[in-house]
Amino acid sequence: MFLQVVLAERDPHPYYVATAKGSYITDIEGVERIDFANNMASLIHGHSHPAIVEAVTDQLRKGTAFTMGTEAEVDFAELMIARSETFERMRFVNSGTEAVMTMLKTARVYTNRPKIAKAEGAYHGTYDYAELSQTSNPSNWGDINKPNVNRVVDGTPQGVIDDVVVFPFNDIERTLKILDEHAHEIACVLIDPVPHRIGLFPATNEFVEAVYNWTRKNGALMVFDEVVTYRVNYAGAQECYTVKPDLTAIGKMIGGGFPIGALAGKREIMEVLDPRGKILRHPHSGTFSANPISMTAGRVAMELFDEKAVLDLNALTDIAISQITESIKIADVPVSITGEGSMFRLHLQANEPTCYREAYHTDEKKFLIKELLDYLFLKENIIMINTGACMFATTITQKEVDRLSEALLNGFKLIKPKLEKLSHSLV
Ligand SMILES: Cc1ncc(COP(=O)(O)O)c(C=O)c1O
Repeated sequence: MFLQVVLAERDPHPYYVATAKGSYITDIEGVERIDFANNMASLIHGHSHPAIVEAVTDQLRKGTAFTMGTEAEVDFAELMIARSETFERMRFVNSGTEAVMTMLKTARVYTNRPKIAKAEGAYHGTYDYAELSQTSNPSNWGDINKPNVNRVVDGTPQGVIDDVVVFPFNDIERTLKILDEHAHEIACVLIDPVPHRIGLFPATNEFVEAVYNWTRKNGALMVFDEVVTYRVNYAGAQECYTVKPDLTAIGKMIGGGFPIGALAGKREIMEVLDPRGKILRHPHSGTFSANPISMTAGRVAMELFDEKAVLDLNALTDIAISQITESIKIADVPVSITGEGSMFRLHLQANEPTCYREAYHTDEKKFLIKELLDYLFLKENIIMINTGACMFATTITQKEVDRLSEALLNGFKLIKPKLEKLSHSLV
């Protein structure tokens, strides 16, 4: 009853922000909340970081967008190229969606092949080819040996569906069999190394190696979507693997709070985008691409997110995970937690999921996670992502972590009867 009242309070309109600073957001009613969502992982230093505000204000006075280049874009590109060994050349765009789209088109141009292979359930933004099967569900996902390629948006043409191949993440045997069926047509295999929607657990080194070896043998590229996961290590989640991607799409936090995306990778592949080439195979431009505001904010944000900051943030996130694990134990609820680096996700099931189909939110689960998150939002003044995930920022301290684990303990106790009923119904 209490929870139904809580749910009703959030309808029929969303809450609106008045101001935000560090890890705290104040809404237009004057209520202050701790923000663990950080605009879906894009604010690595929380809200209105003083150094970013100062640098951007300075740039605002000098101009915001030009039909000419700026030193701001060169400085930022040089910083990122020095940071990541696989970034030999870079191009900036305005969102993660655009970065992934440009990456897939580049792979097609370079290989002269039409097809894209992607993991079932993986979210890569809203480009037609990248979004297919992102919302597959038990009624349409089909045989795990050959997952169906499902539309997300009505009206997506059949031609798009015909050029996408879907494989089960981290499942080497099935994935290689599926790829083999299209061996001569696949331009690239797209991997998010810690895919949030699949369950926020990492790709195994064996899986990435198997995909990489397959691409070498079959003339395809292996490309990474690190739009979210670049935060995992100083040079991205790709640092964790013995083999490296040919191309990488990044975005979110590298904009320091402003719209951004970027494509980076091997020089010889990126050359298809070079306007100085005799035959320009991939004409590419964008009105606001590499605008000096995003470039300046991004450079300052990435300078601040140095090796020590990355390690400190990951260490604090580990503390949060162990405190929340303790809350789960005390409340004695069937909840598990997955994550990597400065991100984690709760699952309303006793065992950590190992694939998209295990992590899938049924309607009952969706409803229960919403009850938990509404309780946190309305009664504990805590903001999490709607999947039950947190993406930490460097402004979070032990104080906020303590509040989060206490609030979750209260929330777990509150939903415990429904949670137990749900887990019994699944046995
Ligand atoms: C893994 C991943 N790739 C791409 C995107 C798309 O980025 P954007 O929202 O900036 O278009 C997202 C956004 O959430 C993402 O999580």
